[in-house]
Amino acid sequence: ALERTFSIIKPDAVRRNLIGKIIAKFEEAGLRPIALKKIHMTRAQAEGFYGVHKDRPFFGELVEQMIASPVVVQVLEGEGAILKNREVMGATNPANAADGTIRKEFALSIGENSVHGSDAPETAAEEIKFFFNDDEIVG
Ligand code: CMP
Repeated sequence: ALERTFSIIKPDAVRRNLIGKIIAKFEEAGLRPIALKKIHMTRAQAEGFYGVHKDRPFFGELVEQMIASPVVVQVLEGEGAILKNREVMGATNPANAADGTIRKEFALSIGENSVHGSDAPETAAEEIKFFFNDDEIVG
């Protein structure tokens, strides 16, 4: 089915001028950006967005990395977009990511892993709403 998912091109990738190369990977896989913007996340946004991880040992470092410099947030649309995006990103830890994936090619570490993507339909809907109003999404 045609789905929408949420994506972040993280600070480590934006700093290294990888926005275009990463969006090319999405488009080549049939994931169309139907909303996108560059933002510098506030601490409150990063803590809220990653609230599910607040008790994990890496939470503090995760928030610091996400607010260190700008990110690109996107809504991606396509057939089976949620799973397809996860496939294109590769495993969270780049050491485990398959050849040809974004994280295999570009990620530096598990924290600086270049992209975030929604893991399920419910989180996709929540994450899209967290950063986009309906009138910013042009399907
Ligand atoms: P992301 O998909 O953005 O969701 C949570 C992030 O926490 C994850 O990608 C990683 O970048 C980061 N992270 C840092 N350390 C860990 C860890 N040990 N396990 C899982 N995620 C981690």
